Amino acid sequence: MSEGAVKKEEKPRKFQAIRGTRDLLPPETTLWNRVEQTAHEVFSTFGFGEIRVPIFESADLFARSIGAETDVVSKEMYTFEDHPAELPPQPIMGEMPAHIKEIGRLMESGIIPRTEANVNSLNRLNSFIEEMYPLGEKTFENAAQKWMEFFFYLDGIQLGDQVTLRPEATASVARAYIERGMHTWPSPVKLYYMGPMFRRERPQKGRYRQFYQIGAEVLGGTDAPAIDAEVIEMVMTFFDRLELQGLQLDINSIGDRNCRPKYVELLRAELLKVKDKLGPDSQRRIETNPLRVLDSKLESEQGIIATLPHIANHLCEECAAHYAAVKHQLEMRGVIYRENWRLVRGLDYYMRTTFEITAQGLGSQNAVCGGGRYDGLVELLGGPPTKGIGFAIGEDRLILSLQESGKAPAQQGRDVYIAWMGERAHATAIRAAKVLRKADFSVELPPVEQKFGKALGQADKLGAKYALILGDDEVSEGLWTLKTLADGSQAKYTEPDLLDHLRKSKAVSS
Ligand code: HAM
Repeated sequence: MSEGAVKKEEKPRKFQAIRGTRDLLPPETTLWNRVEQTAHEVFSTFGFGEIRVPIFESADLFARSIGAETDVVSKEMYTFEDHPAELPPQPIMGEMPAHIKEIGRLMESGIIPRTEANVNSLNRLNSFIEEMYPLGEKTFENAAQKWMEFFFYLDGIQLGDQVTLRPEATASVARAYIERGMHTWPSPVKLYYMGPMFRRERPQKGRYRQFYQIGAEVLGGTDAPAIDAEVIEMVMTFFDRLELQGLQLDINSIGDRNCRPKYVELLRAELLKVKDKLGPDSQRRIETNPLRVLDSKLESEQGIIATLPHIANHLCEECAAHYAAVKHQLEMRGVIYRENWRLVRGLDYYMRTTFEITAQGLGSQNAVCGGGRYDGLVELLGGPPTKGIGFAIGEDRLILSLQESGKAPAQQGRDVYIAWMGERAHATAIRAAKVLRKADFSVELPPVEQKFGKALGQADKLGAKYALILGDDEVSEGLWTLKTLADGSQAKYTEPDLLDHLRKSKAVSS
């Protein structure tokens, strides 16, 4: 079949970005870059260094850190089995013993994970083979039940590790802290990161399946309340620098291992009394995580929630003192906050200080930053007892809010469009483009000759400030014509004078 015939028969499939993911295009990406550049600048003034952690990690890392019962882990993670490259091929019956032996070898060498479940399955498969194969293939027909069991265990062998696209980065940073021995660094260790995260949530404005966070973590050292306050001050300074509008900082303390369990029990008891009046989600959470009921946005539950006991009245002495000191430290830094006793956050690793920041123009998904203290997380992951606190900003939402308040940059036009005609002028145009770009001007050099009229139209469309006109006359005279597109005026310059003129007018306009 000729290529043409293929094209006629099969209409090529049009691909679309996966639901909940999106392309970021210019000029919007200019704003993304400005936001990220500002984060680099502000965070480094607070002594933070950048860490880059992998996009995928062991699924267990997130389950353990964030908590198996949380929405993120139980419903939203992108997890897949990472198959080894050399998988044994599917065998015919007679070759099954060799196949099982091969699986055993791959497990021995660590290519197939040696998990407890895998070792158990392999043992069962081996016993089956030892029992059945010596009896000859005729006995197979009467052993349907045993074969079903055999394939159940064979299919159940986990051929690769379970890996997850990171839904957040705190767990990864804690893992890296342990793995890279950062407890031996001068403490506290102050790190920040930015990049994509993945959660299978229902997409809507400000909520995506691939979204971007800019986050920071302080690990090790003390749990001095000044650290909590300084981390919050840093994120507020960053937002201020970007002129983000309508900010509201909410803070709370959710206690620690001493006092929280007692409060959670009290809350559970109170919730059980009103169980019938709650929706199905909250009813389920009475068992799994009563604190999350406080998070509920359901209109019908608000009256009931308002009557529940406040955690502030049930903090142990140490937690109450820590919370009071954090508030004092915020006041010393001039950071305006609101106490919100219902702010519990959706991830299990938090203790004591929690905070959230909302911004304007975002509708229901208005949390632009969330964070808190997580002493104990590093220990939970097998490291030494370590204090920790941090936050993550939703960069997509931050950008949306800036756009809504008119802070988005307009399409960036070129500085100079080079309108050239003739071979000699082309050579001069290439040289001119090189010189101007070296001096940091944005230059459009058309690849093919254009009539001057068309070139000027094109320069206009691209929002160019100037058209540099190069024809035979200009090249012979060594004088280049510069047209200012805003007013149509034009003048002739020598090469050095032109650069000088452009530099001066750039300095005036910026
Ligand atoms: P988080 O509250 O799950 O915390 O996420 C932080 C921020 O990420 C949210 O406030 C929101 O702005 C943004 N975000 C979350 N999910 C989405 C989504 N599907 N689409 C768009 N934006 C989203 C954490 O991730 C913690 N690791 C923060 C932290 C760091 N705590 C201590 N250190």
